[in-house]
Amino acid sequence: MRQLVAGNWKMNGSCRQAATLAEALRGEAGLACDLLVCPPFTLIDRVAGLLLHTPVAVGGQDCHAQAQGAHTGDISAEMLAELGCSAVIVGHSERRQDHGETDAEVQAKVRAAVRAGLTPIVCVGETQAQRDAGQEVAVVRGQLAASLPHDFAGVVAYEPIWAIGTGRTPTSDDVETVHRHVRAALVERLGQGGRSVRILYGGSVKPDNAAELLRVPEVGGALVGGASLSADSFLAIARAAA
Ligand code: 13P
Repeated sequence: MRQLVAGNWKMNGSCRQAATLAEALRGEAGLACDLLVCPPFTLIDRVAGLLLHTPVAVGGQDCHAQAQGAHTGDISAEMLAELGCSAVIVGHSERRQDHGETDAEVQAKVRAAVRAGLTPIVCVGETQAQRDAGQEVAVVRGQLAASLPHDFAGVVAYEPIWAIGTGRTPTSDDVETVHRHVRAALVERLGQGGRSVRILYGGSVKPDNAAELLRVPEVGGALVGGASLSADSFLAIARAAA
């Protein structure tokens, strides 16, 4: 299975910066991995236009569970699909923390994404306190059990919260341990279908640690925050993918 390197731009990027980044990415050919960028809502139309007919896919960073209605400030999965998105991140820890999103809401968003024809990228991961208490596997398994529908088809991203934006990463062994548990949980839940779900690692992935992280068994790619805001560093990570 090809690895997937996905860039989560979070709340960053002006129209001009987004255009510069998209122009730089669309010139890149022959990568051994799949590439996805997830700009903020305001930039999706522009970026999707620039990346049309290129191998670089575009996704959203969140969606509402409903297709339309009285939900001020929200965006539906159908709206993302109409703009040319093929994927959407759901349950990112910043959404869970900043907006109090629960596993049940995340599961509803996963269903919404699938209804609209998008690939959901479901984020799970433990806090520093949970890691210190040795609870990371239990936390991640609990999030998966409650966030994934029984017929889940999509991508899972393991993002330890303490590694996001901190420059700190788990060791390769620690990443492998959690990813093996994620795989086991997926197979328990989905049967053989659970073997084909890509499991991304996210949290301070940079050009200088990407090769090591992407080499870990059961790591099917990377979800990249800060380093996805520059074409040079994002593409360096993509080139490190198998
Ligand atoms: P950083 O790569 O900036 O640590 O962010 C990771 C992340 O949250 C991607 O979704």
